[in-house]
Amino acid sequence: MITTRELKRAELNDIWTIDRSEVIEASFVMENGALVLKPEHIDVPGWSPAMVKATTPAFETGYDGGDWFCGLFDTDQLIGIAVLGNQLFGDNSDFLQLKFLHVGSRHRGQGLGKQLFDAAATEARKRGAGRLYISATPTENTVKFYLGLGCRVLIEPDPALFEEEPEDIHLDYEIGTR
Ligand SMILES: CC(C)(COP(=O)(O)OP(=O)(O)OC[C@H]1O[C@@H](n2cnc3c(N)ncnc32)[C@H](O)[C@@H]1OP(=O)(O)O)[C@@H](O)C(=O)NCCC(=O)NCCS
Repeated sequence: MITTRELKRAELNDIWTIDRSEVIEASFVMENGALVLKPEHIDVPGWSPAMVKATTPAFETGYDGGDWFCGLFDTDQLIGIAVLGNQLFGDNSDFLQLKFLHVGSRHRGQGLGKQLFDAAATEARKRGAGRLYISATPTENTVKFYLGLGCRVLIEPDPALFEEEPEDIHLDYEIGTR
């Protein structure tokens, strides 16, 4: 049975047990304010040790600061995760960032990513946000997933988040539009 619940701090390391493998055949780039799809073959095996090393402390700091970690479980096994930030930002202080979203390889395409996304949007609204900010991996599947949920490309991304991930596609989701 598939369920969702908040992760405990001691479970943060379990995030690395989610099978992130994916074969990517194309990615988007922004050209003159428009999305352009470019062929690009990337075989993503699993989490790299460098990613685990860099991101685990960031998860812990975020958790302690109030980030929301929503785990998706198949019985007792963690198979997906959404992480929502805790600081409102933007000109109208109405953005919260969807910092991380993953569904394990075997469980994709079954509506579970959408379920996690909607849970994050609901939590964001409870926290006073009107919009989600997503700095999305530019791969075809990821961007099409977000666009399909009603996210829109931000022509003027947040400067600090853009500097962190200039190759990402920066998206805006107005909560409650679906
Ligand atoms: C992106 C990701 C979270 C999507 O999760 P998922 O469980 O596979 O997606 P869902 O099954 O919930 O799909 C939800 C909707 O998006 C659509 N969608 C998903 N992938 C799509 C694609 N490649 N093209 C078009 N639509 C797509 C689905 O058709 C579905 O629409 P529907 O409700 O009208 O049927 C998942 O594939 C993943 O973890 N990928 C690797 C990690 C990643 O890229 N994370 C995001 C980092 S920013």
